[in-house]
Amino acid sequence: MSLRTPAVFVSCALLLAAPAAARHAWDDTSLSADARANLVLKAMKQDEKLSLVFGYFGSPKPDKNFVPPAESRMGSAGYVPGIPRLGIPPQWITDAGMGVATQRDSADSFRERTALPAGIAVAATFNPDIARAGGAMIGSESRASGFNVLLGGGVDLLREPRSGRNFEYAGEDPLLAGTIVGASVQGIQSQGVISTVKHWALNDQETGRHIYSTDMDDAAAHMSDFLAFELALEKGQPGSVMCSYNKVRSLYACESDYLLNQVLKSRFKYPGYVMSDWGAVYSTERAALAGLDQQSAGIFDDQPWFGKPLKQAIQNHKVPQSRLDDMARRILRSIFTVGLYDRPITDAKIDFEANKKVAQAAAEESIVLLKNKNNVLPIARTAKRILIIGGHADRGIISGGGSSTVFPAGGIAVPGLDVKGWYGPIVYIPSSPMAALMGHLPQTPFKYLDGSDAAAAAKEAAKSDVVLVFATQWSTEDVDHPMNLDGNQDELIRTVAAANPNTVVVVESGNPIFMPWADQVAGIVEAWFPGSGGGEAIARVLLGEVDASGRLPATFPASLDQFPQPTLPGAGLKDPFVINYPEGAAVGYKWFDKKNLKPLFPFGYGLSYTQFAYSDLGAAVVDGKLTVHFTVKNVGSRAGKDAPQIYVSPKNGGWEAPKRLAGWSKVSLAPGASIAVTLTVDPRLLSVHDGKGWKLSEGPFVVSLGASSADIKESVEASGALSR
Ligand code: BGC
Repeated sequence: MSLRTPAVFVSCALLLAAPAAARHAWDDTSLSADARANLVLKAMKQDEKLSLVFGYFGSPKPDKNFVPPAESRMGSAGYVPGIPRLGIPPQWITDAGMGVATQRDSADSFRERTALPAGIAVAATFNPDIARAGGAMIGSESRASGFNVLLGGGVDLLREPRSGRNFEYAGEDPLLAGTIVGASVQGIQSQGVISTVKHWALNDQETGRHIYSTDMDDAAAHMSDFLAFELALEKGQPGSVMCSYNKVRSLYACESDYLLNQVLKSRFKYPGYVMSDWGAVYSTERAALAGLDQQSAGIFDDQPWFGKPLKQAIQNHKVPQSRLDDMARRILRSIFTVGLYDRPITDAKIDFEANKKVAQAAAEESIVLLKNKNNVLPIARTAKRILIIGGHADRGIISGGGSSTVFPAGGIAVPGLDVKGWYGPIVYIPSSPMAALMGHLPQTPFKYLDGSDAAAAAKEAAKSDVVLVFATQWSTEDVDHPMNLDGNQDELIRTVAAANPNTVVVVESGNPIFMPWADQVAGIVEAWFPGSGGGEAIARVLLGEVDASGRLPATFPASLDQFPQPTLPGAGLKDPFVINYPEGAAVGYKWFDKKNLKPLFPFGYGLSYTQFAYSDLGAAVVDGKLTVHFTVKNVGSRAGKDAPQIYVSPKNGGWEAPKRLAGWSKVSLAPGASIAVTLTVDPRLLSVHDGKGWKLSEGPFVVSLGASSADIKESVEASGALSR
């Protein structure tokens, strides 16, 4: 099937699976999802229950002898058969958080789809509405492509800036990450498509991801990574949680009673089902008893652990029948709550133009203006010669690799960039920043140089009014990477900046990078992996058609010695190893604050083309909740957006770090306009977890209003009796 056109996937099974009117007792939508799931469960045969808990891969790999079931969608991540007799639809499963992906070993079945900006970019918008709209867009493409489960919702914290998957996640702060990812999950599920939240848990680096164990103490985990998940679960109510590859406290996450039964299902009261990551299961009994509910794509594991071995384990009473019933009930519950049962997948055309606009809007709010000396940006419309160097900016923008790679509508802009390993190729999305700029400035002469010859680029730069160097840093699942830009890019930027001091660097990366040239250039823009509308979004920000309103969701460190672990654990190791994460709960800016380190750029930072003034900060305990109010005014001469942030700390200290982000508001203001903002602080952000539960800290609290974690404008104190 050609996948250049919107796919139409309506299979016989799907039609069979569609519930006929009032055929079953559980068709009654007035019943709760739990009641409906219980009714189905009662009607199920043992083999039907077992069929729900074992998944297939949707591609003829990794084993050439493996033939994906006919009903699976070719080139997809997974498939779980439905039960036509009972009207239960199959689960057609696709990656991931940026859009509908295709497994790359299915050359004949690439699905070209719309890519959102990377997860870290969506977090940089500081705007849950943008995250929700993006989620709804990719959820709708998932639906229209025949998928009712989307493996989105990446929320592991960015505690290791070199982690290859930082681009899929939502930064270093649990409140920001949980809020943004929760909103994205809401969007996806609004389309009747189950989303995951993943990878549970502490999967914060890729090096050795199948062998390392994270031995963080319970309290620190709850105040960092677990809190990000807890918030994403509460806000997004995802149908599924994916357990991760790594071990926690020496046990694989997908067979960790601590992670699955104790924390996720008991403490968080998570009612949905836990699916394994692809190739993350190592046992039947241990995994089943620990709380794993579904083995995904069993072909990736050594054994079909939740296939025949599970059937036998139940017959032999090694796994109680009640556990299988619970697995099936949880899966059914999500099928009902999210709408897979009531809103069967129907064939639909994809409006790629409209969806690209959604991606573009997200990218526009995600781009962070890091430096703007002498207002080198926005680009003056009177510029006579614009030189663009590097990053394939004449053809497109880069995106991240691995399972989440979306093959873009319109094809790959720079073909042939293969890499060793399953996670390639490097995909450039055909959204050229240069073409977009030229579209906006049709009279201006532009020149492009690929940057391979730094001296030639410098020569040309000396003759140009505006010089834009596009720096790209690909990153991917399964591999961590150095902090410096690849190849000759650092040298290229230095050489060009020496020839033209008005050089602006546009970085496309999925994570923080080092910028040894930061002092030498006039402008720096972090554009992340900006997705299908990325070129146009970059152009509009560079030209000032929209304000630069992204804020950093992660600290950009200045040097390796600022890292809690300057040497990445495990490099080159084949044997299991332990990661201790010395920072514990003090992730990102919290570590920098605690150690009094000055980063290259702090968390929450980003410039705007206008200026904002903050005033009237006040904080009080109202009805047991800490309530904060303040006013933001646009005191500049043009419209703009800001994300003023509230940080809290107990006056007498005692937390993992000097302060925590407790809220923010993304505001859009005309010149001269102001807005009064009121925020209520989640009590968990005023508490310490002691391994058993949250304990509210003693006040008074210092409440600070800032433009970033390192730029506090005003602080007040608040005291009073708080309640949970
Ligand atoms: C990744 C998951 C992904 C799965 C299916 C794994 O390699 O870790 O995030 O959803 O593959 O493609």
